[in-house]
Amino acid sequence: MVDTTPILDIRDLTVKFRSGGQLLPAVDRCSFSIGKGEVLGLVGESGSGKSTTAMAMLGLLPKNAVIEGDAHFGGANILTLPETELTALRGRRISMIFQDPMSSLNPVLTVGEQVAEPLVAHYGLPPMEAQTRALELLDRVKIPDARRRLHSYPNELSGGLRQRVMIAMALACEPELLLADEPTTALDVTVQAQILDLLLDLRDESGLSILLITHDLGVVANFADQVAVMYCGRLMETAPVNTFFDSPSHPYTEALIRSIPTDNGAPRLETIPGSVPKLTDLPPGCPFSTRCQHHFTACDETVPVLREIAPSHFSACVRTPDYA
Ligand SMILES: Nc1ncnc2c1ncn2[C@@H]1O[C@H](COP(=O)(O)OP(=O)(O)OP(=O)(O)O)[C@@H](O)[C@H]1O
Ligand SMILES: [Mg+2]
Repeated sequence: MVDTTPILDIRDLTVKFRSGGQLLPAVDRCSFSIGKGEVLGLVGESGSGKSTTAMAMLGLLPKNAVIEGDAHFGGANILTLPETELTALRGRRISMIFQDPMSSLNPVLTVGEQVAEPLVAHYGLPPMEAQTRALELLDRVKIPDARRRLHSYPNELSGGLRQRVMIAMALACEPELLLADEPTTALDVTVQAQILDLLLDLRDESGLSILLITHDLGVVANFADQVAVMYCGRLMETAPVNTFFDSPSHPYTEALIRSIPTDNGAPRLETIPGSVPKLTDLPPGCPFSTRCQHHFTACDETVPVLREIAPSHFSACVRTPDYA
């Protein structure tokens, strides 16, 4: 049974990027929480604000980002922590697996040095001990011939191996919260399942909580407890995973679910017509209105906010019964 006490509680997170004299709302008043030992799948099309949300948690956004709201972790609002405290937290209590493993690995350090680095930095482990632990971690993320790989440089590894090195680094200090941004996209399906099973084992053993960012609703179905759907920086629907697939409410969620490829690899059943609006050109009212098959006048008049439509099930759509 999952303990639902939030380990991370995000309230009204807003991130705007200063760009070309404008403030672009990449994340707009998003609220959600993750319980201890819970996996929250954050889904949505490209550009919806998933990575921005995760990066904001660790103070990793570029200088043109303006951040508002609260994100409570360990008794503090981590959005306002001084850099020294964030540095102590990052990689130790909260780790991140970055979307792009190549740009996040240091090309001039060996794999062993990089996986050992957080252990040396946070726990002051002597180099030999840190290397032994690094070897265990490489084994754990199923890197073949791990002892030899300790001495490899990132450019000597395939994309899939680099992604596994990133995962080993993120797990090195046994964090309480893992922000996993498309952690398995470069991996083939079998290794992907092995890695996600490993994360679930860690969740079961140590209560690891995971923000699992993915485009893949199959991964969500198999590995998440809760699901949050983002579109143009806004949360459209949040629900326990079974509710999400059995009784989706928001037209965007329904469209996403309809577009899941079938098991036998047949072409998509249906793609969502139209494209995601640019942040510089958002429609008035609901951001999904330009693609929504249920669109009517009220959708242009107000930006819908999440309303609880059933226990733990929230949707941001003016069509939901009793939306006022
Ligand atoms: N530094 C920046 N300056 C201006 N706009 C930015 C910046 N970083 C991101 N954006 C914009 O913010 C929006 C959200 O981007 P983000 O990378 O969070 O999306 P995402 O959901 O992670 O997409 P993907 O699935 O492609 O990884 C996009 O419109 C992106 O172009
Ligand atoms: Mg992203």
